Amino acid sequence: MRAAVCHAYGPPETIRVSSVPSPPVSAGQVRVRVGAAAVNFPDVLLMANAYQVTVPVPFVPGSEFAGVVAEVGVGVSGLAVGDRVMGTAIAGAFAEEIVVPATSVTIIPGGVTDASAAAFGVAHRTAYHVLRSVARLRRGERLVVLGAGGGVGLAAVQLGALLGATVTAVASTDAKLAAAASCGAASLINHTRVDLRQELRAAFPDGVDVVVDPVGGDLAEPALRALRWGGRFVTVGYASGTVPRIPLNLVLLKGCQILGFQFRDFAAHAPRELARNEAALLDLLATGQALPRVGATFKLAEAAAALRHVADGKAIGKVVLAIG
Ligand SMILES: NC(=O)c1ccc[n+]([C@@H]2O[C@H](COP(=O)([O-])OP(=O)(O)OC[C@H]3O[C@@H](n4cnc5c(N)ncnc54)[C@H](OP(=O)(O)O)[C@@H]3O)[C@@H](O)[C@H]2O)c1
Repeated sequence: MRAAVCHAYGPPETIRVSSVPSPPVSAGQVRVRVGAAAVNFPDVLLMANAYQVTVPVPFVPGSEFAGVVAEVGVGVSGLAVGDRVMGTAIAGAFAEEIVVPATSVTIIPGGVTDASAAAFGVAHRTAYHVLRSVARLRRGERLVVLGAGGGVGLAAVQLGALLGATVTAVASTDAKLAAAASCGAASLINHTRVDLRQELRAAFPDGVDVVVDPVGGDLAEPALRALRWGGRFVTVGYASGTVPRIPLNLVLLKGCQILGFQFRDFAAHAPRELARNEAALLDLLATGQALPRVGATFKLAEAAAALRHVADGKAIGKVVLAIG
């Protein structure tokens, strides 16, 4: 099969598309013929060996995929050859085939394309768990989303609006803000043109209820300062490359909460809440209310360009590799 392979840790350009053997299917696993895979920021970090986990080289990056079941291992029930499925893995999706545990795939709801299904797995699930279970967002609350044009940010805008919040999107370009507006943001702030702290204070003199931050860096503190007394700030990631340091007196003065979310820990510690959220989110996908926005599509042979697009923060919504 053809696959994009990381032979040595490094920047996106080190990836090479070549022919590799298809992995064997063991008991409890399925082989999926990949139709589409989504490209995520952690793929860039894994390739650079700068992620929380290390995958030994050589490996095939890619953590989100959608396609058709091509082989079913011994002991698998509820899945058959020909089923359309979507799923996530640490790596392996930038290939014509991926082998994963059967428990890590879900049947794609009818009418949802491979591109949408592949783009759904990480960003929408992260944003939904963050909003519902960490921020505990309520209808009518004021939500500020940083990195609002990116994968997690745009999903948080869309899902925050669906959950009944008034959403303010913060991003670096007008194109990203236009995407956020089309996903339901009520107000837009281009942080490269205005002072974020002053802008938020002018727009919300009584403060905002919730901030979702997948970016970190210089934007975190001014956004936290915009919270009302008792507000919630959720740190989700550091796409800026800088983990912010927040003066603790701000927490004291605001009586606010700084909360964190990490997918694998949430899955391990809150399995029931995870299952409830995933069922509700799948329903939102099936009914077309929570479709991911795919901002750019590349071929498998263009995997390096797709990774570079994400690494440079140019992605609007999700970036997809069309493989099948
Ligand atoms: N905690 C979890 O479980 C979890 C789950 C999924 C993702 N994450 C993390 O969340 C972060 C965002 O993921 P994502 O998929 O939304 O990424 P993304 O689509 O690439 O968006 C990231 C946004 O960060 C901003 N940014 C600022 N400086 C940047 C830089 N130097 N390089 C790239 N982007 C920069 C950009 O927004 P502007 O241009 O508007 O400033 C960009 O749109 C990543 O760090 C990822 O690892 C965490």
